[in-house]
Amino acid sequence: MTAADLVVVANRLPVDLERHPDGSTTWRRSPGGLVTALEPTLRAREGAWVGWPGVPDAEVEPFAEDGLSLFPVTLTAQEVTDYYEGFSNGTLWPLYHDVVAPPQFHRHWWRAYTAVNQRFAEEVAKVAAQGATVWVQDYQLQLVPGKLRELRPDLRIGFFLHIPFPPVELFRQLPWRTRIMEGLLGADLVGFHTDGGVRNFHWLAQELAGASPDRDPEVLHHGGRRIRLGAFPISIDSHRLDELARTPEVEKRAAEIRTELGSPEKIVLGVDRLDYTKGIDVRLRAFHELLEEERVSVDDAVMIQLATPSRERVEHYQQMRADIEQAVGRINGEFARVGHPAVHYLHRSLPREELAAFFLAADVMLVTPLRDGMNLVAKEYVACRPDDGGCLVLSEFAGAAIELTSALLVNPHDTDGVKEALYAALTMNAEEGRKRMRTLRRQVLDHDVDRWATGFLEALGIRVEQ
Ligand code: ADP
Ligand code: G6P
Repeated sequence: MTAADLVVVANRLPVDLERHPDGSTTWRRSPGGLVTALEPTLRAREGAWVGWPGVPDAEVEPFAEDGLSLFPVTLTAQEVTDYYEGFSNGTLWPLYHDVVAPPQFHRHWWRAYTAVNQRFAEEVAKVAAQGATVWVQDYQLQLVPGKLRELRPDLRIGFFLHIPFPPVELFRQLPWRTRIMEGLLGADLVGFHTDGGVRNFHWLAQELAGASPDRDPEVLHHGGRRIRLGAFPISIDSHRLDELARTPEVEKRAAEIRTELGSPEKIVLGVDRLDYTKGIDVRLRAFHELLEEERVSVDDAVMIQLATPSRERVEHYQQMRADIEQAVGRINGEFARVGHPAVHYLHRSLPREELAAFFLAADVMLVTPLRDGMNLVAKEYVACRPDDGGCLVLSEFAGAAIELTSALLVNPHDTDGVKEALYAALTMNAEEGRKRMRTLRRQVLDHDVDRWATGFLEALGIRVEQ
């Protein structure tokens, strides 16, 4: 394949390799919001994507797929343990999400992280054309900008963090904080979802890496270079989802879902990767209490929780899955009738069309993370409501809350508050609901993922053809 002018590098490719018992392999879409957002953008720009195929020891040749060139990076089983499950998801993920679980600091995890970041940088250096633009993604690859600049000073390098950039007190706990800062400062542009992320980074870069401020609060100077910072709230391909939700197939399926559930008056929905940051326990507790207090009955309202399996070998994830499944079992044990569960729980990933039908069927959408960089599910729900129906209950601690102010905003640490918001959503008068949804839809349809990508690339100095 020829050298590429636009290269995205992310821990994962947009597709995961699946190995079957008979030895055959297939590809399936990778989980998570990063892929949801970036895939349509990069496909439209015919870029290259460097990333891991999602299983250990996979030696796969580069291949092309529908406008995208994919360049697989091999990780050994030990690297998956130490770099991916360890440093990325046992150290950085909880630390950057306000330590909602305690992060672990291990030197051998850090060593694996630096070695794997070096490998990613080397792969990109091989793939990128002279003077190309490289867009590095997320917390797993924070050393790549610095390492890549050493290898290829001709490149224009952008970095975008898909998760929150933490408050300074938390970031300073990291034993390798200065190295991470220097890695990120190798980029020409460092992007975050929110202004809060920009401010935290601006301060820490000066404090830890000796960067100098500029008159412009979104510029830093370091190593004789000028580095731009900026807030770029990510989004979804909202028009495509809006169109999907208008198709007769999705409308029909939404009606079927309601019938299959026994035609309850209200359907309450949660859709998440099964992650302890998502506050799935919070919403189960709120629903449980409403049933207990007899303000809601299983004849009026049914809850559905769709949960994509995630990071299943990491201890906190195993514990959380057990806790959630126990909570679901308990609610059903107390309140279900035969053939009428109070909570339907599906531990699997669903196709886009099916997911759109669930969004269209849901009267109330519960998005209650304790902390979330953005949360695309909230935006997807809104995009899937061309009927202006449904009601979004959204955590204040999701990046999406900054834009989606017409949702019912809740503090997920406040069980009573979540419970009252859920009750308010269940009993909201139709006119107020439609008014809120119309405002939400204007926001989500105007600010789609293409606008996000264009904004970032233009800030990086790339002229983007419309
Ligand atoms: P994160 O990136 O932390 O997983 P986001 O809400 O930003 O959180 O993105 C999650 C993405 O995964 C969304 O595009 C959502 O539709 C998708 N997703 C979550 N759960 C499921 C599921 N059970 N089946 C299919 N897709 C899912
Ligand atoms: C979030 C992260 C992504 C990650 C995704 C899925 O969206 O920001 O970087 O790819 O979750 O997690 P996983 O560990 O399965 O890649």
